[in-house]
Amino acid sequence: MIVILTGATSGIGESFARQLAAKAVADPKKTPRIGLAITGRNALRLKSLADELNRTGLIDCLPITADLADPDAPQRIVQDVLNRWGRIDVLVNNAGYGLPHLFHKTDPADIQAQIQVDLTAPILLTRLALPHLLKSPAGRVIQVSSSISTIAYPIFGAYGACKSGLSYFTDALRRELSGTRVAVTLVEPGPIKTEFLSRAMEGLEKNDTERGFIENWPSWVFGTPQKVAAEMIKSLDRPKRRISVTKTAVWPMRLGGLLFQIFPPLGDWFVSKNLRDAGVSPRSED
Ligand SMILES: NC(=O)c1ccc[n+]([C@@H]2O[C@H](COP(=O)([O-])OP(=O)(O)OC[C@H]3O[C@@H](n4cnc5c(N)ncnc54)[C@H](OP(=O)(O)O)[C@@H]3O)[C@@H](O)[C@H]2O)c1
Repeated sequence: MIVILTGATSGIGESFARQLAAKAVADPKKTPRIGLAITGRNALRLKSLADELNRTGLIDCLPITADLADPDAPQRIVQDVLNRWGRIDVLVNNAGYGLPHLFHKTDPADIQAQIQVDLTAPILLTRLALPHLLKSPAGRVIQVSSSISTIAYPIFGAYGACKSGLSYFTDALRRELSGTRVAVTLVEPGPIKTEFLSRAMEGLEKNDTERGFIENWPSWVFGTPQKVAAEMIKSLDRPKRRISVTKTAVWPMRLGGLLFQIFPPLGDWFVSKNLRDAGVSPRSED
């Protein structure tokens, strides 16, 4: 089984890679030999993870350093994998990040890079891998989107637009591929304890009000990357349409989203109030 996993240097991706190796170690006879290509920008972390997994002797792990903001990266990743193994069975589009900025303050270059990483790269990787996945006896596409796509959230507008686009693309692809051996899974995590939030905060100044909004999220809404990854690993053997972790965070958002679709004024009032209460709101300038 040949797997491409993007965003393996931390959080959900790193946990997925470790659990895949653990599965092979736990039951080597039942697990097919695994070739795992892991990608990210942090070459040191990638190498150290690849070395650790290769020591099991049951997984052949290839680290590929690539910045997905580079439009040529998807082509290079797929080519490196084909050069090494000549096939692809599983594509996990996990890499991504969120920029929590009031939109009028967001750097246009940052918006462009975010769209490239969070939306264009996973769609292109899917396109490039798909002819190979269709030749596999059990092709899998796992797209890590976000539960943010259920409710339009200010300050994460561009991020949410990318994830909503990815969710739409994933559902459309699953329907297009029905009747083939390729299964498509949409992962919609709620808030998860990873480096996602600390990375998101990096771009904010100390006094930026967006900071307070994020820091105020209650701890009970957070799930763990291990739990998300475990569900993704299970879906390799028993494909699922959707994975939502944690259900206690994602289902209320889904129901709220449905309600706000039917009654848009209610959604505008509720979400805007939520943001104003946290002290975040742009003002018109005289
Ligand atoms: N944590 C949450 O609350 C949450 C909620 C909903 C959805 N998600 C989604 O879950 C996925 C995994 O995030 P996480 O929570 O595990 O966060 P994380 O710990 O920050 O991991 C993000 C991964 O994406 C990679 N990445 C970021 N920018 C990249 C770029 N320009 N090029 C290549 N790789 C890049 C990072 O690697 P390098 O830094 O080495 O490049 C890292 O491996 C993301 O798609 C995220 O949007 C997360």
